[in-house]
Amino acid sequence: MTALDTLKIQASGDAVARIVDQFAADPRRLEQMSLEIADIFVDVSKQSWTRAGFESAIAVFAESGLVEARHKMWTGQAINVSENRAVLHVALRDSDSENLRLRGPEITQDVKAARDAMRDYAGGIRSGLITGASGKPFRTIIHIGIGGSDLGPRLVWQGLQPQKPKLDVRFVANVDGSELALALADLDPDETLVIAVSKTFTTQETLANFLAARQWLIDHMGETRAKAHMAAVSAAPDKTGAFGIAPDRVFGFKDWVGGRYSLWSAVSLSLVIALGYDVYERLLAGAHTMDQHFLTAPFEANAPVLLAAAQIYNRIGLGRPSRAVIPYVHRLRRLAAFLQQLEMESNGKRTSPTGEVLSTQTSPVVFGDEGTNAQHAFFQMLHQSEDVVPLELIAVQKNGEASADMQQKLLSNVIAQGEAFMVGKSMATSEAECAKMGLDADQTASIAPQKVCPGNKPSTTVLLRELTPETLGALLALYEHKTFAEGIVMGLNSFDQWGVELGKTLATSVLADITGLEIAPHDPSTTALISRVKL
Ligand code: F6P
Repeated sequence: MTALDTLKIQASGDAVARIVDQFAADPRRLEQMSLEIADIFVDVSKQSWTRAGFESAIAVFAESGLVEARHKMWTGQAINVSENRAVLHVALRDSDSENLRLRGPEITQDVKAARDAMRDYAGGIRSGLITGASGKPFRTIIHIGIGGSDLGPRLVWQGLQPQKPKLDVRFVANVDGSELALALADLDPDETLVIAVSKTFTTQETLANFLAARQWLIDHMGETRAKAHMAAVSAAPDKTGAFGIAPDRVFGFKDWVGGRYSLWSAVSLSLVIALGYDVYERLLAGAHTMDQHFLTAPFEANAPVLLAAAQIYNRIGLGRPSRAVIPYVHRLRRLAAFLQQLEMESNGKRTSPTGEVLSTQTSPVVFGDEGTNAQHAFFQMLHQSEDVVPLELIAVQKNGEASADMQQKLLSNVIAQGEAFMVGKSMATSEAECAKMGLDADQTASIAPQKVCPGNKPSTTVLLRELTPETLGALLALYEHKTFAEGIVMGLNSFDQWGVELGKTLATSVLADITGLEIAPHDPSTTALISRVKL
């Protein structure tokens, strides 16, 4: 019997136990199922598992080959087998040159050269040495990219953006032209820097937005002067010349950085300019602390493995198909969107790296929104539906932007929700409430059951001491390693994304139908839609 088989049996047994009772049954539960690393407290004690369930979930990782896979990742072996690429985003945040050298002089040199180029360019802009063509300093950066070239930098910008930034950053991802139009509407082209960010430099949305932004610059200042206002970030720098970007304004990274793991690379150039190189270094340092923890801590006391174990337990052990991510942190309001790509694009797959159809479930649906807003939107379903949606509640202890009163209110909500999901509200309590409201027996018979919350709904709490570049870096690295560890257990390659290709290919042929004379054969519904929108 495999460790996963044992986990499934154990989990179905655990499901009859109430989480809240487990604390009395096991006084060491909290201690065993929580830890603090890099100023982040991780508590998985409100998950559905008994202690035996927890231990069998941890055992799955020991059996899965995670130790070997982790070693292969760190030593630069091509673990992204379908694309024959190493996966070395951890090298981007390793400032220890000894470790970098171990991976080969080429990688050390690449990482250092890329950092130096970013630091110099960003420093030049921030000091006013590098200006727009008219000599005016840059005030706004238009960061154009999508997917991994957008979600990470956007999240970090929102997380760390000064209240009154010296340089603003506006992100444009969608090929819906309204996004670019809104971003440019009140800007002076003379003070604007447009940065196209694309690993492949073939992505339709990014290229279309970049060409439109470039035209906006050219219309205002002409083609030659516009060059001073454009830069690019790509792992295919040879493709950027065709878009009129000066070679000394192209910042590269290597194909061993996956798109959704790329915020640690030059993909964050906009942030390095707007926040400063020192902030970027602190972000990397926080991530590096988490890397070292993931690399060295035993699985049962390893934060990424604890989060991954909770997910494997819920998803594979109990077949729960979704997970809600609720940051009670306005500045991290896009965390669920970031995690959707990280987890669902990495692990939402059906085959093994050698092509066999997998026998286990893979990524759940990840969704969420900021708390407390989400409480007033979809929490009703989470509390009372028969479906069990495991939650991840993320909060920041100290917030210098908030009054003590508001911060206490926010924190009381996140803590109360974790408790409410676990404890629920019994029929007896509901009936007592009805009595207090003065309801008669008939009314109580109909209202009391409606007030019952079954409880026993699992949650994980992730509590940051403060939102700093270091803790944010560590938090994002925590999720990256969690996703990697889950992928190993699920038996898939977390670093490719073949599934998104089909839609891209079909969009190209539908575009030809919309813009051309003829419509190629499709199903009747698709043909009718194309006919309706044909220009
Ligand atoms: O849609 C898939 C994807 O390839 C993502 O993996 C990637 O982050 C995104 O598109 C953008 O790709 P690029 O950075 O090459 O423009």
